[in-house]
Amino acid sequence: MPRYDRLKAIAQEAGSLFLEGYHAPKEVSYKSDIDLVTQYDVAVEELLKARLAEAFPEHTLVGEESSDDHTFPEKAIYIDPIDGTTNFVHGIPFCAISIGIWENQQPVAGCVYNPVLEELFFAEKGKGATLNGEPIRVGDAETLTASLIATGFPYTKIEKGVDYHWVMQSMERLLPCTRDIRRLGSAAIDLCYTARGTFAGFYEINLKPWDVAAGILIVLEAGGAVSGCDGSPYTLDQRIIVASNGTIHAELVKHLGEAPAT
Ligand code: IPD
Ligand code: CA
Ligand code: CA
Repeated sequence: MPRYDRLKAIAQEAGSLFLEGYHAPKEVSYKSDIDLVTQYDVAVEELLKARLAEAFPEHTLVGEESSDDHTFPEKAIYIDPIDGTTNFVHGIPFCAISIGIWENQQPVAGCVYNPVLEELFFAEKGKGATLNGEPIRVGDAETLTASLIATGFPYTKIEKGVDYHWVMQSMERLLPCTRDIRRLGSAAIDLCYTARGTFAGFYEINLKPWDVAAGILIVLEAGGAVSGCDGSPYTLDQRIIVASNGTIHAELVKHLGEAPAT
């Protein structure tokens, strides 16, 4: 089987366990007061890592629930077994498996699979982006006023520190200029919905590589743009990610303003 067909098959196999968990009672533990984790986050990641290690032996696997690795290996697979765990626990169907393959600090393939809504997004570098096998493209909004924008709130909001203030400030600047803002609860899905034109753009502070590694390529291959908050090409160590249909990108970046000092 071609290796990226194998990637999709692995996501679908793990998706069955994910779906079983979505409908089952869950044991919830806490990484912090508001950052939840269930036995399914751990079990789905274990299954993904076992299968991906066989299919991609030369890649380092970086999974949210099992890696303390904060470096960016030359060949890496970034895994979020459940992006949108809070939704998963509360029965809100916006949650997904996210698997992003990066080589030499560039995305080469990405798969985001939501087994609840049966949506499988996939992109391979240079070959376009698809949803359940059908090509997708970013939307055609030309102004922020005509744009539905997605965002997310970092777990660090609870500290009411610089991240929290940046979230509030960016919302204050942006909200009056857009059609509206949505907070769906899964960064991987926010990126895919930007890729398919549901959202004209998405931004968030303090995401981790496993949240965005797959979705970035899906946006780019659907004809969109992804950058840091200064408009420069996005790298996985940046604090703020901005993704869009490309047309509204400069306007979105301008309204977000600078990243806060760390
Ligand atoms: C979270 C989701 C959410 C975003 C958070 C992420 P998790 O991932 O992507 O939309 O706002 O910042 O950490 O914890 O559900 O895997
Ligand atoms: Ca995540
Ligand atoms: Ca997660």
